[in-house]
Amino acid sequence: MIRSLRGRLFIGLTAIILLTGAIGGMFAYRWAFDEAIELQDSILVQLASLAQNASFSGGQPLHGVEEDSEVWLIELGKTPSGVTDDRQLFTLPDGLQAAMWKNQPVRMLLRTRPDGSRFAVAQPTTVRDETARDVAFRTLLPIAALIPCLMVVTALVIAYSLRPMVQLAGDLDARRADDMTSLPLSGVPSELHPFISSINGLFKRMRLLRDQQRRFVADAAHELRTPITALSLQAENLETVALPKRARERVATLKQGMHRTKHLLEQLLALARHEALPSGPAGMPLAALDQAAKEAAADLLAEASDRGIDLGFAIVEPLTVHGEPAMLAAIIRNLLENALRFTPRGGTIDIGVYQEDSTAVLQVEDTGPGIPSIDMDQIFEPFFRGSRPEGEGTGLGLAIVKRIVDSLGGGIALENIAGAGRSGLRVTVRLPIAGDLKSSADVGSGA
Ligand SMILES: Nc1ncnc2c1ncn2[C@@H]1O[C@H](COP(=O)(O)OP(=O)(O)OP(=O)(O)O)[C@@H](O)[C@H]1O
Ligand SMILES: [Mg+2]
Repeated sequence: MIRSLRGRLFIGLTAIILLTGAIGGMFAYRWAFDEAIELQDSILVQLASLAQNASFSGGQPLHGVEEDSEVWLIELGKTPSGVTDDRQLFTLPDGLQAAMWKNQPVRMLLRTRPDGSRFAVAQPTTVRDETARDVAFRTLLPIAALIPCLMVVTALVIAYSLRPMVQLAGDLDARRADDMTSLPLSGVPSELHPFISSINGLFKRMRLLRDQQRRFVADAAHELRTPITALSLQAENLETVALPKRARERVATLKQGMHRTKHLLEQLLALARHEALPSGPAGMPLAALDQAAKEAAADLLAEASDRGIDLGFAIVEPLTVHGEPAMLAAIIRNLLENALRFTPRGGTIDIGVYQEDSTAVLQVEDTGPGIPSIDMDQIFEPFFRGSRPEGEGTGLGLAIVKRIVDSLGGGIALENIAGAGRSGLRVTVRLPIAGDLKSSADVGSGA
């Protein structure tokens, strides 16, 4: 059983070509053979007409263009001579017939002249058949030459006809896992339309399901936020109450748990919010990337100096990109929080905001351990925290950053910095540039 459509078509069509060739060849051979025999008969008739008025003696061979295409002229006279062959010939009627001459089968034309003398023109059957076979065989050559040509043409036509299908499969393979946009029907052969419509129907159902799921996560996170905030306030109120030492310890643990839960809810909400956004920077407002970076850095500066980390700008150029300021803030904040969490005391975090060709680049470099290469493939997956997670995190930060960067039409790259005596992670975010904001703050370093 051949699985590929291409294989089936090719084998089927080749079989038809071969069968047609074989049957056609058989008929052509038969016809050409019969024609050649008839032609040779007419030559015998013509020779007999020429010999009608001539007289010759005994049997004489005539040779044509080819040495072995012998024709015999046989003079029989008026009465049978003593030769056995001659006597036998006298018993035969005038006309074309098969006979024996000199112990070999011949095709023979017997004639009687007006004066009563007889003669015969004869040609050995073996010679005639061989000539006819030669001629007939030559009619087969063009057919035999045509068959491979037809097979090549068939293969090309099949490949050309199936190309849209192969292309469709390639397009589907190359899709991102979360890309559920409908496949276009234009330019696709009509036979594939029902198939594409089914796939598009499936995509639509999956989109609906995904949207429902996102809405559920967003709603759940939103609903949980208020009670958690209320609980946090209660825990804070407890701190003002005079409590025994052990109870105070418990309250501190409780507050920490509250803090973690709030962070998780914030991240979940951010992820759900950014996932619901349509892709593409078109229609987004303009925002200053350098300003967003400075604000985020300023927010984290106190924490950085508490932990003995030198957080600052290596380069900052005024750059405007498409995007909500909150989106840019979320990108930078998540990257800086990661860098802060993983950079050991005494380390450095360098932020860069600059233009490269026609893209705006935001770069964050730290002096932490970097990300193990086995984690790199999954690093943008929600809840993935890598093989050596540090501190308390949700594993949602980079997933959020990736969603936002994608929806702004940009790209993100993570690379480990490996050099003499240093390690670290360099995160590079590229966003399409929107123009230069003249009012953007001056170039400076150290936020
Ligand atoms: N600068 C970094 N250096 C080393 N590892 C990092 C760095 N940034 C991210 N990682 C790795 O990638 C994982 C995923 O990061 P991500 O920001 O998505 O989640 P998180 O930081 O654990 O949680 P959250 O951001 O919600 O607090 C981290 O747990 C860590 O293992
Ligand atoms: Mg993070």
